[in-house]
Amino acid sequence: MEAKIEVEKKEGEWEPRILAFLCRWCSYAGADLTGSARISYPPNVRILRVPCSGRVDPLFILKTLRSGMDGVLVSGCHPGDCHYTAGNYNARRKFAVLTRLLAYVGIDPRRVQFSWVSASEGEKFAKVVKQIVVDVKALGPNQLFRLPTLDKSGESIRQ
Ligand code: FES
Repeated sequence: MEAKIEVEKKEGEWEPRILAFLCRWCSYAGADLTGSARISYPPNVRILRVPCSGRVDPLFILKTLRSGMDGVLVSGCHPGDCHYTAGNYNARRKFAVLTRLLAYVGIDPRRVQFSWVSASEGEKFAKVVKQIVVDVKALGPNQLFRLPTLDKSGESIRQ
């Protein structure tokens, strides 16, 4: 039996911003199915469609965190189902190294999560999103790695 992940939202509470890189063939279609099946999930995720999870360079993830997003989700086809044969295997190797790099530089690896969601797994997509929102919310805002926000005079504004 699967545990239900509940995302509670209180008035005025800080909400994480998460960027999701979704493979167009599987996970993006899965996200689409989530919407058309009217399965709800937290609105904290902004979706970026990519041709394959293998196309996601680890630098994209670091730049996303640097730009101020609080978390990153990368999702692609299940191993063996990649439309480019081995793109997701390459992604899996890159992300294994990235996870260690994140821990080394002091970024909690829970801020960056990877998953395999097929086009028919709308419920799974919603579950993955709920999980990353719960995890990133528990970690708090991404302050270690983000670029400072500057005011008009060029002074750093602490957020
Ligand atoms: Fe979906 Fe490669 S095409 S992970």
